Amino acid sequence: MSAVITDDKIPNNVNLSGDVRLQRALEAWQPKFIDWWKEMGPSGWMERDIYLRTAVSVETDGWAHFDYVKMPDYRWGIFLEPKQEGRVHGFGDFQGQPVWDEIPGEFRNNLRRLVVTQGDTEPASVEQQRLLGATAPSLYDLRNLFQVNVEEGRHLWAMVYLLHTYFGRDGREEAEELLQRRSGDADKPRILGAFNEPTSHWLSFFMFTMFTDRDGKYQLAALAESGFDPLARTCRFMLTEEAHHMFVGESGVQRICKRAAELMKTGDVRAQGGIDLPTIQKYLNLWYTLSLDLFGGEVSSNAADAFAAGLKGRYKEDRYDEHKLIGSTFAMDVLRDGKVVHEDVPMRTALNEVLRTEYIKDCQRGVDRWNKTLKDEGCDFQMKLPSHKFHRQIGMWSTLKFSPDGQMITADEWAKRSGEWLPNEADETFVKSLMHAVYEPGKMASWIAPPAKGINGLPEKFEYVRP
Ligand SMILES: [Fe+2]
Ligand SMILES: [Fe+2]
Repeated sequence: MSAVITDDKIPNNVNLSGDVRLQRALEAWQPKFIDWWKEMGPSGWMERDIYLRTAVSVETDGWAHFDYVKMPDYRWGIFLEPKQEGRVHGFGDFQGQPVWDEIPGEFRNNLRRLVVTQGDTEPASVEQQRLLGATAPSLYDLRNLFQVNVEEGRHLWAMVYLLHTYFGRDGREEAEELLQRRSGDADKPRILGAFNEPTSHWLSFFMFTMFTDRDGKYQLAALAESGFDPLARTCRFMLTEEAHHMFVGESGVQRICKRAAELMKTGDVRAQGGIDLPTIQKYLNLWYTLSLDLFGGEVSSNAADAFAAGLKGRYKEDRYDEHKLIGSTFAMDVLRDGKVVHEDVPMRTALNEVLRTEYIKDCQRGVDRWNKTLKDEGCDFQMKLPSHKFHRQIGMWSTLKFSPDGQMITADEWAKRSGEWLPNEADETFVKSLMHAVYEPGKMASWIAPPAKGINGLPEKFEYVRP
């Protein structure tokens, strides 16, 4: 195990050549992955030179190398953070005992479900975004889209490595199925809801990378605490890549808000080719709530089991004093006989809600930064996260209707008003009408402000994608 990534057919830092059977199995999966990439990856851009970063080491600084590469030649591989000698379970029933390098039989199914569910989201998002290149607002954004896409492809590799290495024949079959499901497909959809929703334009793409990739950050962070050490080390390195995806989303929406605020000074935003702030708010409402669903039910025995077994922890376990959570409770809103009440729920069963609560705080920090941009532009409109009860499709709130401010409303009122809160057909048509490709270096579409700076210290007018 070293920090340096090898030059093998499958780049890796896990001494893959030391396990010939595993190496052969992954080398047999590799061409199927490339076929999937060519079929379902960014449509029409496979032969182009893209300025991308590739991992060359897992050291905290200097792991990335930037250069032009054709996407099918991207060096996808297997990168784990180095093993920490003497690491022990940080939480759950096994707290203080040495971490596992193999999975105890009784936890195998539960863990496989966690790995497959995480793994499935990675290719799904590539599929959702595959047509966006045709309407990129700039070369800078086009390059960022492809960077996110190749890294999601690498995250699929990360999960497939675990499946092949630790789950035997079942794992190999799951790895095949990860390439067979398709986002939005009626017969073989991706596992989770938000990953079957169309990402049909760049406003949705930026909201997706802001909110849905951020769910990924929290899921990966919870798995990075795992007592199954290979999973923890895999997720730790994935988190370093994930940070860029959220940067793309947060800064993308921030630039759209900035542009809207600039245009407000000279007239109607839409008439001048911008996206108005109320419309941006609707897309925020949509993608934020789809992403809240990804954390699962508010009260969950699965979450309790995964914590007890040491498979999935909380966000940054180190911040807490107590790591067994027996007898402790979490105060949260629950539904009792059709009414919302605030109750103490046994902590282990509330862990999905605990993680979701951390996620919400993180989203709020991003929204605060957008609001600061709006304020700096002299605009008094403020973006707002809706209530976590609003527009839910998973969990206890999904059985009733709530307004964005969290008030319970009737189904009739929902039918009347949901078009004010969520993008309606007219909004979708309008946003799509603005989506025209801008491929001239340094130029931006009318609806988005330029980025604060270029990639890797390069100027904004750098040719991030070669013609
Ligand atoms: Fe990912
Ligand atoms: Fe991501």
